[in-house]
Amino acid sequence: KLEGEHVFRGVLHHSVMLTEGTEEQKKFDSLQMSANDCIVATYPKSGTTWMQEIVWLIYNGVDIEKAKQSPLDERCPFMEIAPKIDFITDMQSPKLLKTHLLHLGLPTSFLNKSNDSRPRIVYVARNPKDVAVSFYHFYRSNKSLGNFNRGWNEFFEMFISGYVVFGDWFSHVITWYETAKKDSTILFIKYEDMKRNSLEEISKIAKFLGKDISTEMLETLYDHTKFESMKKNPMVTFAKNPSIDSSISPFLRKGEIGDWKNYFTVAQNERFMDIYNEKMKDTDLSFQFE
Ligand code: A3P
Repeated sequence: KLEGEHVFRGVLHHSVMLTEGTEEQKKFDSLQMSANDCIVATYPKSGTTWMQEIVWLIYNGVDIEKAKQSPLDERCPFMEIAPKIDFITDMQSPKLLKTHLLHLGLPTSFLNKSNDSRPRIVYVARNPKDVAVSFYHFYRSNKSLGNFNRGWNEFFEMFISGYVVFGDWFSHVITWYETAKKDSTILFIKYEDMKRNSLEEISKIAKFLGKDISTEMLETLYDHTKFESMKKNPMVTFAKNPSIDSSISPFLRKGEIGDWKNYFTVAQNERFMDIYNEKMKDTDLSFQFE
């Protein structure tokens, strides 16, 4: 059990995250955002940090020197952390934020507005087997997640039952995907495509955000945000976050497609694929697992 465990808008949260009926929740629901702002939305461990750095650079003319001056979680903060709500409210436009909430959980202040007055949203999804493995290591290294010190087999059961922070992978990803299909303010991107066709995907994101980006800027951006570069950049590795013990598992751990094969047993894979095939049967969304 997590300290301060509660459900906020359909997803499991721990103590520092927003709670319904508080002053912070009211401020969250009055948050003003415009079409010039952007939210990076994901299920945890799907490449959020990578996309945040890309989006920030696209908005800031690929100014690498400026990016190195402050931690990413100040340039593009997590919007549902209760103690940060004043910081977020006071941010100047363009506001760049990150969320793991469901679409329906976003601030009511802009959710019902017309497309031209709502922020752009980039949603990143990653194949759930690699998400599960990445999440397992995150649970081990992040003290705010209940000092989890059990093994992979126990985490696997937690993941498939949806008993993890931000809830069930399937409902998160499928509802965002189906919403994005009908909503031109949401761009749905897959982690695996980002790995395989980084330049094309980054161009697509810049175009969606309405920002011009030259070939030279694109290459600089790619170079700065590839795994090897980000791993060496203390502004994006949560190096100073007191909750994360990097000696247990670094935040930028492997950054690969297919690491699940080093963890899933044959039986776990069969069980997982049965659940996957059943839950994904009504959607045309698919993933590459290797
Ligand atoms: P692994 O644990 O598989 O290495 P999030 O930012 O949503 O928490 O996701 C973290 C995952 O994204 C980690 O996966 C991390 O290594 C990976 N990641 C972070 N930056 C990346 C990059 N530039 N390229 C590829 N993967 C990256």
